[in-house]
Amino acid sequence: MSESPVQLRPEIMAQRAYKQGKPAPVNAFKLSSNELPFPLLDDVVAAASDVIDNNRYPDASCTAVREALGEHYGLESDHVLVGAGSVALLQQAITTAAGPGDEVIIPWRSFEAYPAMLVPSGALGVTVPLTREGGMDLDAMAEAITGHTRCILVCTPNNPTGPAVGHREFEQFMDNVPEDVLVIADEAYHEFVTDPKALNAARVLDRHPNLVVARTFSKAYGLAGLRIGYMLGNPAILAAFNTVAIPFAVPAPSQAAALAVMRAGDAVRARVNEITARRDEIRRALYDQGWPVPESQANFVWLPCREQVEGVNAILQAGGIIARPFPGDGIRISIGEEASVTPLLAACWQAIERYPYLRRDELL
Ligand SMILES: Cc1ncc(COP(=O)(O)O)c(C=O)c1O
Repeated sequence: MSESPVQLRPEIMAQRAYKQGKPAPVNAFKLSSNELPFPLLDDVVAAASDVIDNNRYPDASCTAVREALGEHYGLESDHVLVGAGSVALLQQAITTAAGPGDEVIIPWRSFEAYPAMLVPSGALGVTVPLTREGGMDLDAMAEAITGHTRCILVCTPNNPTGPAVGHREFEQFMDNVPEDVLVIADEAYHEFVTDPKALNAARVLDRHPNLVVARTFSKAYGLAGLRIGYMLGNPAILAAFNTVAIPFAVPAPSQAAALAVMRAGDAVRARVNEITARRDEIRRALYDQGWPVPESQANFVWLPCREQVEGVNAILQAGGIIARPFPGDGIRISIGEEASVTPLLAACWQAIERYPYLRRDELL
């Protein structure tokens, strides 16, 4: 970063801005940002287009979307908060819950945006490593709670590794969390979960007044470009998060698109089913190649590559696959279009042949 001519907060200057997945060159598959590989549904485009010709501010409280979500989840609309992507709501939640000197427990490795989200609040991030299988270590997270803990982030399924938290395991964890500490279940990929034992945090809100759930229209609903997500939880908590929202952040076309995509349940489900079937097929094939790929309940898979991330990524790129490398750790590959599967598996095979010590058996 170049030098600023004015005094700015050093803790913010010390951060790196969020790094977006690479754009794909022509003839390559963009599997770097966990987006759906499908175009917007026609009805969604029509609904968004219908309201674009309007020079007024949008409905700041997203009333219709909150009501539709409330109906979907069997909740009053004041149990729903809508924002410009769930990332905005997560930031609002952390800012509201934790201030300078407070602690926020985050799993790691997890969503890359978490650490930077803490910075404006001045709170301290307490990172808890994942389990060997790439999932949340809920026991260790509970042990990390101190008198200063104000918020705990649980990412399920975890981005970028893929495993989901089990329902039972989560209930045990909540028994160990003080009732005045906020727990955020970040379920951005919830709709891709196929394991019946996995947590569905929206179903346990009744039991845990200190729990809020973050979900999004960006992933399974395919509206990543329209920036709209939501939180479910206690109305007093959500109202507090709303006080630090940027007003009018969710444009009217995004609100209209969200309403339209909720009406298109069958088409959305068919697309999600296609992706989860492909995910399981790819994960199995990679596992058979020898890769220690964790079980994924999301729309991506994780290749542990340790210090060979650059080398493996170069092979993927040469094979027309643009994935998301995390230096020194691994590569996250989003599940894309059917045509991407053969080149992806061919490139991964080439990579494991080139770096055989990355094989599962070698790691044990
Ligand atoms: C775990 C997780 N949470 C939240 C988000 C934010 O999604 P959005 O702001 O598009 O709703 C993402 C996006 O990649 C994510 O991976």
